[in-house]
Amino acid sequence: MKRFVKVLMQAPGAASLALFTREIWANPRAMGAACPSAPLLAGSMAARVPRDCDGLVIELGGGTGAVTTALLKHGVPPWKLVVVERSPTLAHHLRQRFPQLRIIQGDAAQLGQLLGHDRSKKIASIVSSLPLRSLHPATTRAISQQFETLLDAGGLLVQFTYDLRGTRTRWLPRFRRVSSKIVWGNLPPARVEVFERQA
Ligand SMILES: C[S@@+](CC[C@H](N)C(=O)[O-])C[C@H]1O[C@@H](n2cnc3c(N)ncnc32)[C@H](O)[C@@H]1O
Repeated sequence: MKRFVKVLMQAPGAASLALFTREIWANPRAMGAACPSAPLLAGSMAARVPRDCDGLVIELGGGTGAVTTALLKHGVPPWKLVVVERSPTLAHHLRQRFPQLRIIQGDAAQLGQLLGHDRSKKIASIVSSLPLRSLHPATTRAISQQFETLLDAGGLLVQFTYDLRGTRTRWLPRFRRVSSKIVWGNLPPARVEVFERQA
């Protein structure tokens, strides 16, 4: 049995999975998922980010890096990508895994402050894996205010949810849903939605 666990831990991605599982035990509401996003879901999120647009891409809730990997693979240049993660352990893991990226440890509810010198730059897209449904309502409200403040008209928010009916639009009053698609190849299936900031 010990040998089996050792082999399992050496499998690619096993360390990330073990870390993710430990974080779920420590903070289930903030993790809001049973396991990291599958490549299909992560790829589907990344594909919604325009490659040639001007401005930063901010990823929220980096976790163990599933969506980060997909964004880099999609062609987002490392100097344009900033990742925010609340958990110090996961942020440390992301820094080790992606030394070329700016990884910020902190709460997305204070995104503007966390960005520091990058706050003055244009933000083209926010890619969020944050579990808006399971976070405290006050945190979800604060995060949605950050989306409104930091994105200019036309800026995109890519969000996934396990609620197949979609993200509650009352959380995003200044946004218009421009696309919505279920990704069945994830455990559980998830809906990927794109919202555009209205003028
Ligand atoms: C559903 S997991 C997604 C992880 C990863 N992106 C993936 O797709 O596998 C949500 C992530 O959001 C992080 N998170 C939750 N609340 C947060 C907050 N207020 N600010 C920043 N990150 C947060 C959690 O620590 C967790 O890593």
